Amino acid sequence: MAEMMIAEMQHAYKSFDKRRVLEDVTIEIEKGKILGLIGPSGAGKSTTIKCLMGMEKLDRGTTKIFNVTMPNRKILAKIGYMGQSDALYESLSGEENLQFFGNLMGLKKKALAAAIQENLALVNLSDAAKIQVQNYSGGMKRRLSLAISLLAKPELLVLDEPTVGIDPSLRVEIWKQLRTIATQGNSIIITTHVMDEAEKCDLVGLIIEGKVFAWGSPAALKKQFKVDTIEAVFLKAEVPSK
Ligand SMILES: Nc1ncnc2c1ncn2[C@@H]1O[C@H](COP(=O)(O)OP(=O)(O)OP(=O)(O)O)[C@@H](O)[C@H]1O
Ligand SMILES: [Mg+2]
Repeated sequence: MAEMMIAEMQHAYKSFDKRRVLEDVTIEIEKGKILGLIGPSGAGKSTTIKCLMGMEKLDRGTTKIFNVTMPNRKILAKIGYMGQSDALYESLSGEENLQFFGNLMGLKKKALAAAIQENLALVNLSDAAKIQVQNYSGGMKRRLSLAISLLAKPELLVLDEPTVGIDPSLRVEIWKQLRTIATQGNSIIITTHVMDEAEKCDLVGLIIEGKVFAWGSPAALKKQFKVDTIEAVFLKAEVPSK
């Protein structure tokens, strides 16, 4: 039997100011899977996930999440989304930000308190919990944003470059946690520039100039391109044989 489809975008087209940014993009993700979107800067990764969630309007094509056609406010509220730029309250501490967003997500007091401590520890910010966010470094802000998006363990987690500015050792811990979240039956869509992160995904979509250039498991992509790493797939794809 087919696995349960959590999110899908079919034949999506999107232009900004008459410039085409997405062209016939189809992506799908099933329950419990991690989908990685990779591709050069400006290729359309962020636009793809925003359109998938209905945050940007498509010119053509359809998108569905939990089998509901997007945009849909109710469904959008159920998605854990971490944008590429941090949306944090600078004058509040890290912990207060977690508290604020956790309340918005409707987490109960006790569960929220536990989730805050757990996620502060996960992103290595326990010692900085009481410090105002305006005094955080870029990487610390990124880690706080990630902790916020992980608070509620949503069924669909959409993370736009969550590990930018995060050290390799911490990245390993974060990936362990992402895999645990997926194993518990949640789905994750993640964009990344880090190729060894792409190797850890169940499925990889390589987006180039607004098109899905390649799609499949890391193993299948490596086989298709006759290379040993996803980085080599990326490099082969990015330099078209002219
Ligand atoms: N709101 C917008 N208005 C106009 N152009 C936009 C808008 N959002 C994105 N674009 C353009 O669409 C293209 C794709 O952008 P997008 O942010 O999706 O790329 P990306 O793959 O996420 O890149 P990066 O890896 O740098 O984050 C870019 O050329 C960008 O300039
Ligand atoms: Mg982007």
